[in-house]
Amino acid sequence: MKTISVSNEKEMSRKAAEIIIALIRENPNAVLGLATGGTPEGTYRALALDHQKNKTTYRSVRTVNLDEYVGLDANDPNSYHAYMEEHLFRHIDIPQDQHFLPNGSAESLEAECRRYDRMIERLGGIDLQLLGIGENGHIGFNEPGTPFQTATHVVTLTESTRRANARYFENIDEVPAQAITMGISTILKSKAILLLASGEKKADAVRRLLTETQNTDFPASSLIAHPNVTVIADREAMSRVHLYQ
Ligand code: F6R
Repeated sequence: MKTISVSNEKEMSRKAAEIIIALIRENPNAVLGLATGGTPEGTYRALALDHQKNKTTYRSVRTVNLDEYVGLDANDPNSYHAYMEEHLFRHIDIPQDQHFLPNGSAESLEAECRRYDRMIERLGGIDLQLLGIGENGHIGFNEPGTPFQTATHVVTLTESTRRANARYFENIDEVPAQAITMGISTILKSKAILLLASGEKKADAVRRLLTETQNTDFPASSLIAHPNVTVIADREAMSRVHLYQ
């Protein structure tokens, strides 16, 4: 695992955007795995700005997102479909039919999960998967205890994850109880992984990621076995790492 320490969130976002832009310029047909949440917002802003200024094009890029809430359709402002539209897709030139998220309102959620994994395979797999990390070590919505072999599946969100995400909703009761998430095995099939962490709240998770051995209690530890993982973490997120080195 390669670690890049940066001073703050802004630098983390700039560095992540640089890596993504370099990939797209080298491979205009790249398949990008994307994440939602607070962490990648600055990266998406940097990609949008670069598209505007330097004309990096996404015309042949395909994107697949990690997850979507169950029960929210694409037009719901709290859906991850809406988040991606707002933070990235409407600012770049990616065609509408080249960005994909799980369908959280599919009639058969099980069939949707299988369809999603097959679709990623048909696209040729993910070239670069962008990840945030939960305070409890979740990646995607793979919560502690998730076996590392799982493919895309339906999860019941933990209380702590619903609390952490309640900031986007009127109140915690509005946060859906379930989500569809790429499984850990789906994530691990990506050719490269870029995990971002910023802020004191992530310090414990980053310490665990960089010091623990693989264990299902800490889902992000599954990444240790992957040959091409880069972690970009800011000073606050790295603040508990030196104590253990
Ligand atoms: C988002 C996702 C989650 C987040 C994680 C961190 O698509 O899959 O794993 O990356 O919950 O969220 P933030 O960035 O809001 O701290």
